Amino acid sequence: MNIEIQIDRLSDELDRLASYSDLPAPAISRVVFSEQDLLARSYVRQLCEEAGLVVREDAVGNTFARWVGSDPEAPAVATGSHIDAIPNSGRFDGTVGVLGGLEAIRALQRSGFSPTRSLELVIFTSEEPTRFGLGCLGSRLMAGALDESCGTRLKGHVGGTLDEVRASAGFVGPLSAVRCPTGSYSSFVELHIEQGPILEREQIPIGIVTAIAAPAALRVTIEGEGGHAGAVLMPNRRDALCAAAEIVLAVEAAAKSSGSIDSVATVGLCNVFPGAVNIIPSRVQLEIDIRDTDLERRDLMLDAIMDSCHSLSRRRRVSAQVEILNSDAPAACDPTVVEALADACDIQNLPYQRMVSRAYHDSSFMARIAPTAMLFIPCRGGISHRPDEYASPEAIANGTLILAHALASLSQL
Ligand code: HGY
Ligand code: MN
Ligand code: MN
Repeated sequence: MNIEIQIDRLSDELDRLASYSDLPAPAISRVVFSEQDLLARSYVRQLCEEAGLVVREDAVGNTFARWVGSDPEAPAVATGSHIDAIPNSGRFDGTVGVLGGLEAIRALQRSGFSPTRSLELVIFTSEEPTRFGLGCLGSRLMAGALDESCGTRLKGHVGGTLDEVRASAGFVGPLSAVRCPTGSYSSFVELHIEQGPILEREQIPIGIVTAIAAPAALRVTIEGEGGHAGAVLMPNRRDALCAAAEIVLAVEAAAKSSGSIDSVATVGLCNVFPGAVNIIPSRVQLEIDIRDTDLERRDLMLDAIMDSCHSLSRRRRVSAQVEILNSDAPAACDPTVVEALADACDIQNLPYQRMVSRAYHDSSFMARIAPTAMLFIPCRGGISHRPDEYASPEAIANGTLILAHALASLSQL
């Protein structure tokens, strides 16, 4: 089967999608349900409709674009990723899997292929945790890993509950209806940039993901005592930011002392109240990201960090409230789907490497409801979540070509 990827068209579409951003190029910011996100969604929807796909959206805005196969009742083969982007990030994270997935389907259409199992492109809502503090919102709900109480429980970082914000974006209906019945998909493949340095360093064009690291996130609220920066003597202080600083270093120490290079931990958010130079901080809120490819090691880090919070709060006479935002298991990719990706690389004579994903993805949750695997392509310097994130047209074309061949073979299984 002769499949050709129209990489110039795909690159133009990636450029246009990147233009929907709340920051000037090359930075991207496209927070879920923001105006730019809604503009981007309608652009992608238009492309899917132009490709003759049947498009629908669910109650949380997950978008499904289906090429109906000759066996329309059979569980479909799905591919996809996300288009929301964290502030000051890059233009390839997620979007390569969405527009590359669409181009893979269009390339199959142009080649004269006709699918047995339907092929469905999925654009997941809120893969990034920016707005509601929890990543993979749409795929969690599809996988039944989050119940509908999240609609009122999750609050947006600029106000509004998930239910209120999604309704104002035009997505209504019970969140329970987002749940994907088991067996909805026969397989799921996500194309994504590696967000790491291995493929570029080893000069290998394709990564095939066999497992996805176990992510966890904490929110720690430290309450001390405010006061005049000049008048309160040091022995009388209960400075919330000094306590927070100890926690930040305890987070770093927990990862560095785990015994494995696969342990990582980051304090990415630090909000100081009241936030004036001449007032002693009375309250600080930290958000902490903790990951490991090994669940037990990840949980040992979690425990160590929570112990540090409790011991220093006593010593510093502050309170430290620890909230676990999520602590997910690692995801195992399905060997059959992994082999289908490897076969596609062999047929195309493209070298590949099996690897673990240190970033999490919607595949982490799709793996709970369908045989799942991921395709990685190299990104320059392994850089991601930065404006200088970059994947070359050649790398994107390679990944899209392998995806197209894999979708074709999975559709006939
Ligand atoms: O943080 C992650 O791993 C993903 O890029 N949201
Ligand atoms: Mn990301
Ligand atoms: Mn991503």
